This record gives sequence, C-alpha cells and structure tokens, in this order.
Amino acid sequence: MLVLKIMSLGRGVSRALRLLRYSYAWKTNLDKDRWKQMTKLWGGRFQKSAESWVDEFGASIGFDQQLVMEDIEGSLAHVTMLGAQGILPQEDVEKIKWGLNELRKKAEKGELEYKVENEDIHLNIEKMLIDLIGPVGGKLHTGRSRNDQVATDMHLFLKKRVKEVVELIEAFQKTILEKAEQHIETIAPGYTHMQRAQPISFAHHLMAYFWMLERDKERFNQSLERIDISPLGAGAMAGTTFPIDREMTAGLLGFSKIYENSMDAVSDRDFIVEFLANSALLMTHLSRFAEEIIIWSTDEFKFIELDDSFSTGSSIMPQKKNPDMAELIRGKTGRVYGNLIGLLTVLKGTPLTYNKDMQEDKEGMFDTLQTILGSLKIFEGMVRTMTVNTKRLNEAVHSDFSNATELADYLATKGMPFRKAHEVTGKLVFKCIQKGIYLKDLTLEEMKEESELIDEDVYEVLKPEAAVARRLSQGGTGFEQVRKQIEKAKECLK
Ligand code: ARG
Repeated sequence: MLVLKIMSLGRGVSRALRLLRYSYAWKTNLDKDRWKQMTKLWGGRFQKSAESWVDEFGASIGFDQQLVMEDIEGSLAHVTMLGAQGILPQEDVEKIKWGLNELRKKAEKGELEYKVENEDIHLNIEKMLIDLIGPVGGKLHTGRSRNDQVATDMHLFLKKRVKEVVELIEAFQKTILEKAEQHIETIAPGYTHMQRAQPISFAHHLMAYFWMLERDKERFNQSLERIDISPLGAGAMAGTTFPIDREMTAGLLGFSKIYENSMDAVSDRDFIVEFLANSALLMTHLSRFAEEIIIWSTDEFKFIELDDSFSTGSSIMPQKKNPDMAELIRGKTGRVYGNLIGLLTVLKGTPLTYNKDMQEDKEGMFDTLQTILGSLKIFEGMVRTMTVNTKRLNEAVHSDFSNATELADYLATKGMPFRKAHEVTGKLVFKCIQKGIYLKDLTLEEMKEESELIDEDVYEVLKPEAAVARRLSQGGTGFEQVRKQIEKAKECLK
C-alpha cells in the first residue's frame, strides 16, 4: 500500500516537474510545440508532440464545425442529465450550462475561433468552455466519450436536414403537378429506345417524375426511423460506470429511442449510408429528368424552352442559350454516387468499434446534402419557369408512326389475332415509308389491300388525340386517367 502511494506520489511529482520544465521552455521560447502538446485535452500520457502538419492531417475541425449547434445541444442534454443523476453538483452544472449557452450565442454570430490544434468540434468546444468558465468545464466530459458524442451530433444533424430535404422534394412535386395540370391535353410523343413509341399526354410524362419523387420522399421519411435514435451514453464503446440516464438525454434531445448496444451505437454509420443511398437514387431521378430537359430544349426537339433566368450564354457564340443548370445537376450526380461508394468503402474494413476512419463519414455527407438541396431548388425553379411548346409537340405527334399500335389494336378489336394485326400494320408502315407518307395519308383502298377489316372509321382511330383518349386502363395516359392520377397526387401532398 505504502509503496504504491509513494510510487504514485513520485509520478505526480515528476509530472509537475515536467510541466514546470515545459512552461519554462515555453516561456523561453525553446519548445513551444512541446508545450502545445502538453496542453492538449488528451495530452497527459504524451512526451512528445506531433508536428503541426500531422495535427492538420488528423483534424476534422475544418469541416465538422458545421456540427457546432448539435454538439452544444448534445452537451447541454448530457450535463443536465449529469446534474439530475447527482453525478455532478448542481452548481457545476449551472456553470457549464451558462458557458455552453454563451458559446452557442457566439456560434450563432459566427464568432467562435476554431483551432486546428484542438482537432475537432468536440475538443474545440470543450477547450473554449474551459477557457471561459475555468477547470469546472472539464467536468462536462464525465461519463461521455467523443465516440458517442460525435455519433449523437451526426444523428441530430441528419434528423434536421432530412426534414429539409423532404420539404424541398415536396415543393418540387407541387411545381411538377401544377405544370402537369396545365398540360393534360397537350399531346406529345412518348418514347422507348429513344424512338417514337406512342402518343401521350404531356402531363403523364411529367407526372412520372412526381411519382419517382414520391418514392424518394418516402425513403427519406422512412430513414428517419433509423436516424432518430440516441447513441449518447454509449461512452467510448462499453458504456460507463457513472449512473447515467440515457432515456433522459434521448428525451431531452428529442430522440424516439436509444441504441440497445453501446458498441453498435458508436460504430453504426448505416444511417449515413442510407442517407447517401437515398440521395444517390434521388439524383438518378433528377439526372434523368435533367437529361430530358436538355434534349427537349435542343433545336432538334424544341419541346420546351427554359427561362432565361435558368439558362446561360456562350462566351463566343452569341446565339447560344445553354441548359447549364440541368447539365450541372446531371453532372453533380457523379459526386453523390461517389460519396456513397466512398463511405461504404470506408466502413467495410473497420473492426468494431470506433476507428478514426469514421471521421471520413462527414465531408461526403455534407457535400451530398448541399448538392441535393441545391439541385432540388434549382430544378423546381427551372420547371416552374419553363415554357412548354404545345404547338411543336402537337406537330411532332402528327408526323410520325406513333399511332401504329392504334391500327393494330383496331384490327384486334375486329377479331384479328393481335399477332396478325401487328404484321398487317407493319406492312402498312413499310408501304408508307416507301412512299414517304404516314398511316393517316393512306387511302382506304391501300389499307384494304392488307386487310378487308379496315373501314372508314380507321381515320378517327389514327388521330393522336384519340390514341391518348382511349388509353383508359388504370395508370394509362388517357386524359381521364391522367386527371384521376393528378387527384391522387394531390392527396399525397396534403
Ligand atoms: N473527430 C472525430 C470523428 O469525427 C470524433 C471522434 C473522435 N474519437 C476518437 N476516439 N478519436 O470521428
């Protein structure tokens, strides 16, 4: 016993001497760097400091300062709980809370000065707290680790932001719906293989994107279930010896539940992967739509015209009006995919529990968030302000073979097996191509040469308007069906 006491006394004395030596060194400007390391919040067991460029490599403060509000919020909940559980005396709790609130005010005004030597947002805030209220600030970290702290910050952060994403998706859906309502009776060519297929209501085409976005929204909303969980109290990974109350901190932070396993709590980044995956799919949808916008605004198509406010010119070609915004959205899809693959790759080889690799979860997430918020906002404005060239769409649909299925269906209705009707129509199409005309230009005699079943009423059937109107199967492009679809869509937005 006595031996142990003497030994620990010895260690204390030598540490004090070392501090003295360093402070002397620092004062005499001999070894500022070493002094710096001694003052690191975790510097106790270190004899030697890292060079500043090593610090820089390890630091995340350059980007995780975006978590400052969540970090302070988490600390406030934690210290409140420490007080309620009698782990810290109430007067210490009050001091810490006061300090954290001061820092929050400064953060709101952008007045906090972050330091790379303090590594990340957690240590920066803790250091600032101690500088502000003195050593009592050092009690904040009781029963907590940066590992559960950072996970808590990320959960809080994404929970808020995913709701913003959902709001923007909904705003875009609303705009699509409004545009669609204006173009229920605008007939446009529908495509497969990028070849004219069948005439459609232009609203039907637009609404396809509404439903994709509806699924995106659903996915983001469902992911909240897995974001809305509190890891706080998991400690470094094994829990803590202090009698903490995890339900209390979860409640204070507005989390619906807590992680059941402390090791899972600190090493889980699934919720971020899920966010990145949902974002990747959202971008796939936006990118496909962007591609159509780009094609539609070419001289060759001229189906739409983008508003000047969402287009750009060329520095050399005066006539140009480029769909830059749509192209950028299509292009930015790449980085969002990259961020997903990036994080999956970071995680795949990490043993339990926390590994510094996980610090790499942040930049991709921030970048993806910023990219999808921006893309959604731009796309909404682009669609809201674009002009649909109704006349051109109508013309397009009157000079093509997209009514060929109508003729085949017509023959099938008259009793001809569909396979045969397909062949007869194909022959008529070939006849037209040779003559340089369309189906509606064939005389009745010419048609009858292929089938006696064809009568005068065929010309009505060949009209693109009729082709659309008659497609009344559920979810089809028939005007009545499109109206029903739009009503259903409105329900989704309520
Ligand atoms: N900056 C770190 C990160 O973002 C915080 C957690 C650090 N924990 C640790 N044990 N080094 O992952």
